Amino acid sequence: MNTTIAATDQEQELSRAVGQAVDLLVGGGVVALPTETVYGLAGDARNPEAVARIFELKERPYFDPLIVHVTDRDQLEEIAEIPAEIEGVVVELIEAFWPGPLSLILPKCAVIPDLVTSGKPTVAVRSSAHPVLRRVLSAFGGPLAAPSANRFGRISPTSASAVASELGGRIPLIVDGGACRCGLESTILAVEPGSRKPLLRVLRRGPVTAEELKVFGEVHQGTADPGHQPLAPGQLESHYAPGTPLRLLSEPGDFAPVEGRRYGLLSYRGRNKDGYLDLVEWDRVAVLSPGSGKLPEAAVRFFFLLRQLDEAGLDEIVAEPVPERGLGSAIMERLRRAASKTSE
Ligand code: TXA
Ligand code: MG
Repeated sequence: MNTTIAATDQEQELSRAVGQAVDLLVGGGVVALPTETVYGLAGDARNPEAVARIFELKERPYFDPLIVHVTDRDQLEEIAEIPAEIEGVVVELIEAFWPGPLSLILPKCAVIPDLVTSGKPTVAVRSSAHPVLRRVLSAFGGPLAAPSANRFGRISPTSASAVASELGGRIPLIVDGGACRCGLESTILAVEPGSRKPLLRVLRRGPVTAEELKVFGEVHQGTADPGHQPLAPGQLESHYAPGTPLRLLSEPGDFAPVEGRRYGLLSYRGRNKDGYLDLVEWDRVAVLSPGSGKLPEAAVRFFFLLRQLDEAGLDEIVAEPVPERGLGSAIMERLRRAASKTSE
């Protein structure tokens, strides 16, 4: 299959690309679309055949449910319910963070096939702020299931060319909306009533941070409750993984290089005094945020640089830790998952 990458820089190109995408979606097909987090592989969320196609193309196991994109709260209420006991906080969260990189887990309505949610009674819903995605969503007029446009367990794509290297030849259309502004997948949040304050369970760390969420309720990161079922990809150990083995260091002293191996360094700031640059003769060094180290910049560049290192033919990628706060904890969550694949 020939994959077209459609530009959207000029209005004329944009409306042509939107038209092509909508035609494919209406016909039950799938297309790759930009969001502010990562690119998504979209299909009609109400059409089980389109949804099955997404799973098949991603080589994704059917037990891992998809995220559904809506334009706003009204469209959300066509596909999910906002239970009365959490309505106040859910509406506050929607007003604060939508459109934006926050996915909410809510009870699903019958219009969403069980295939989307892997049989769960809940659905993950988000409303992206990306203008191209919003144009497609409103022209299509219905909810779109759109997980990240990578093959299962691999690095999420943050540009049209990254989508092409994941799914090129398998899908008809990639709508190019430029590099993703956030660069990390949306924060996934489950909301429970709680005893004093609403309980906000972060199932996947992302661009909306615990620090930002804590004014809305009591934030729990990850599944503290050991009996709790693993629900989000955060909990699937080997996720976001490059093909090249990845090792995450806690400090420079952790690393004992083996003679003759080709190592690449994923550095936070690229500064000598951090102690990583001269550990070995690195084959490649990729720096997340050169100089003073800024977490938003590191987040934007994270998957892009990881993909570059992965394509460099190295024996191993060695990652420096980044500060474990705000977006840094979202990056560290992904580095830990990527590293855990190596030790399987
Ligand atoms: O930023 C994002 O969220 C991107 C863009 C494209 O929207 N999408 C994305 O989708 O990261 P995906 O499929 O790669 O990750 C979505 C994850 C699933 O792996 C799943 O574990 C979790 O969301 N999820 C979906 N429905 C859920 C549910 N009902 N309960 C708990 N977790 C759910
Ligand atoms: Mg994904």
